[in-house]
Amino acid sequence: MSRNSSAKQFDSRYPSIEDLRNKAKKRIPRFAFEYLDSGCNEEVNLRRNTREIREVQLTPNYLDNFRSASLKTELFGHVYDAPFGVAPIGLQGLMWPNASEILAKAAFENNIPFVLSTVSTSSIERIAELTEGKAWFQLYHPTEDSVRNDILKRAEAAQCPVLVLLCDTPAFGFRPKEIKNGLSMPPKMSINNILQIFGKPNWAVQTLRYGQPNFETLKPYMPKGLDLTQLGKFMDETFSKRMSMEKIAPIRDLWKGKIVLKGVATEADTEKAIQLGLDGIIVSNHGGRQLDAGESTIKPTTRIAQKYGNQIKVMMDSGLRSGPDLARTLASGAEFTFMGRSFMYGVAAMGKRGGDHTISLLKTQLQQVMEQIGCEKVEDFPNYLNTH
Ligand SMILES: Cc1cc2nc3c(=O)[nH]c(=O)nc-3n(C[C@H](O)[C@H](O)[C@H](O)COP(=O)(O)O)c2cc1C
Repeated sequence: MSRNSSAKQFDSRYPSIEDLRNKAKKRIPRFAFEYLDSGCNEEVNLRRNTREIREVQLTPNYLDNFRSASLKTELFGHVYDAPFGVAPIGLQGLMWPNASEILAKAAFENNIPFVLSTVSTSSIERIAELTEGKAWFQLYHPTEDSVRNDILKRAEAAQCPVLVLLCDTPAFGFRPKEIKNGLSMPPKMSINNILQIFGKPNWAVQTLRYGQPNFETLKPYMPKGLDLTQLGKFMDETFSKRMSMEKIAPIRDLWKGKIVLKGVATEADTEKAIQLGLDGIIVSNHGGRQLDAGESTIKPTTRIAQKYGNQIKVMMDSGLRSGPDLARTLASGAEFTFMGRSFMYGVAAMGKRGGDHTISLLKTQLQQVMEQIGCEKVEDFPNYLNTH
């Protein structure tokens, strides 16, 4: 197996995402780990995502001519070094101080996309500076047009190439662990949560160093000195949860760059995205955090890619935890993939080195699969899908 230059970032103590998850669980307070790790309701959809990806099988071609495998993937006019990116995650700094900057920098240096969430803990401007304007931005839809327009202007000034709109959060997810921990909206910090912090000295020292995480992108619109309860109320009033074609159409007119709709689960919503002139969709169920009774993402991705793949870029997230998972998803028709938890486990487990290690781990595993099955280019993966 050939290891590329990223091998030097690889730490052999953590050869799987599960190893990183186990370390993360030991290293950060329980309320922060459960915010990251949990799904909604009975967590059926959370488990189904990975389980159904892993039902996909590949067929190797051992006797074909094979030169070498390349992970390079063209997307929206940019050639990335791998067919995966870092999905937007809210409150990243709560799980590991400065996590958004660690991941943005690692993504930039490894030439893969990083998507900043509106409710992450670094500002659009800071992330643009770290990534030389390469980061994507995920917009939670503001209730006020003036706030929407201002955020779009800031993202444009920061040279953001791709705007991600979200359609799978019409309601807050019902997540029992977050509710018990007091991290539901409005959030509260209980004595129990504070006690958990004392058991995690590394996390506590880093948090003291970087200060309490804030919604940096939203600061200009927030009254000063909100307590946590008022903050929850502010968020509720500032964002309109349900997305619609009427809300997306003016954004399509205003935004000159690419637009991707994230959270698509059906053919019907894919058709609407095409009608609106959007550039791509991410088939996603928010990592099993919203609709426990919903489908996994691999099944609709397969159907949607087959039917609409020549009209719109079809990408997927939710449940991917390894190179073979990426290979299975690309073979099923997704042209690009994203992961949320995998990268956050990496940073929570390893701090500053976690971003590079996780990217290196996934690239190494994916490269091995390509060499094993004889696939030279990422776009050739569908030829290796076992359809028997
Ligand atoms: C803790 C957490 C916070 C998230 N916050 C956001 C967010 O602010 N915006 C967003 O578009 N998606 C958010 N997501 C969903 C991710 O972008 C992504 O769809 C999901 O993590 C993919 O599933 P995976 O974690 O199994 O890879 C969040 C996911 C998690 C786990």
